[in-house]
Amino acid sequence: MIRQVGVLTGGGDCPGLNAVIRAVTKSLILQNNVRVIGFEDGFDGLICRKPVDLSYDAVSGILQTGGTILGTSNKANPFRHAVEKNGKLEYEDRSKEVLDYVHELKLDALVCIGGDGTMAISKKLIEIGVPVVGVPKTIDNDIYHTDMTFGYDTAVSIAADAIDRVHTTAQSHHRVMLVEVMGRYAGWLTLSAGIAGGADIILLPELEYDLDVVCERCIARSHKGRRFSIIAVSEGAKPIGGKHVVSRIVEDSPDQIRLGGIAIKLGNDIEDQTGLETRATVLGHLQRGGSPTAFDRVLATRYGVAAAELVARGEFNQMVALQGNEIVSVPISEVGGKTRTVPLDSSLIAAAKAVGTSMGV
Ligand code: F6P
Repeated sequence: MIRQVGVLTGGGDCPGLNAVIRAVTKSLILQNNVRVIGFEDGFDGLICRKPVDLSYDAVSGILQTGGTILGTSNKANPFRHAVEKNGKLEYEDRSKEVLDYVHELKLDALVCIGGDGTMAISKKLIEIGVPVVGVPKTIDNDIYHTDMTFGYDTAVSIAADAIDRVHTTAQSHHRVMLVEVMGRYAGWLTLSAGIAGGADIILLPELEYDLDVVCERCIARSHKGRRFSIIAVSEGAKPIGGKHVVSRIVEDSPDQIRLGGIAIKLGNDIEDQTGLETRATVLGHLQRGGSPTAFDRVLATRYGVAAAELVARGEFNQMVALQGNEIVSVPISEVGGKTRTVPLDSSLIAAAKAVGTSMGV
């Protein structure tokens, strides 16, 4: 018999988080008469004891809203909690206190909504005895064993719209326009947005690009009378033998590297080599903002309901996942801390190539 369930959102925010919180909460209240407790700011809410009562009313009217009503953190980690001592950051293991808190609250389960980092922490919480159910979130779509994370479809739409929009300036000014798309070390978002936005060249982290090939394609287009080119470039893309462009190091984050700036570097390289005028747009956090698409609202609701069902059946330590069009569950132990990249034999890459898009190699 399940009576009390905790919910938290971890890692970067993402469209559809509120839709999942709503679905988990409403479903547990309506189907199982369970009390649902949210925790603010991801795992920080468990470490620093920040509970929020999630009543039916508290989660009404949030389906279409972006962000997370609970707040989130991509730094909080019960096993490596940063504290400042004498101006220096030191790390403490607070997992025992978190376990005590879970027992004190008499939580029967904890629903962790997040990406690979959240699943990696969930895996360790499971090992010390916290019953967890996971829900896969990220615009990067890079979580193992699920065909799609919620938030991805919204980000693809935003990035594709941006690529559409730079076409007019590119055409009018005869420029090479570069659009930098998020995704860390996985190219899903760039690939889908590039195809949907009709990019001429798509550059992914999975395929180191050849600057000569990229430049030749831009020149060839202008010789054919197409006096502009559009390049969709992943923030994790790099030239053959080159390095990632890092925008900042976040010292107290488990994943310290933040990528960003390759579009500007590559734009300068193309201009130097070809003489063509270039401009770069870095889309950044616009891609994570605002209201989720209808597709993501549906997926988030299916995920939330499936997570509540796992909890009600006592099937813990599983993450809900989409495989084909079926919602299934997979062991969290097989998911955490891994990155699902685009396979080089992906049908998406083949489709892009078949319509003449260059992959820069
Ligand atoms: O994982 C989601 C994501 O938006 C990545 O695509 C991006 O590299 C990163 O998070 C940015 O992190 P932050 O919000 O800390 O700048």
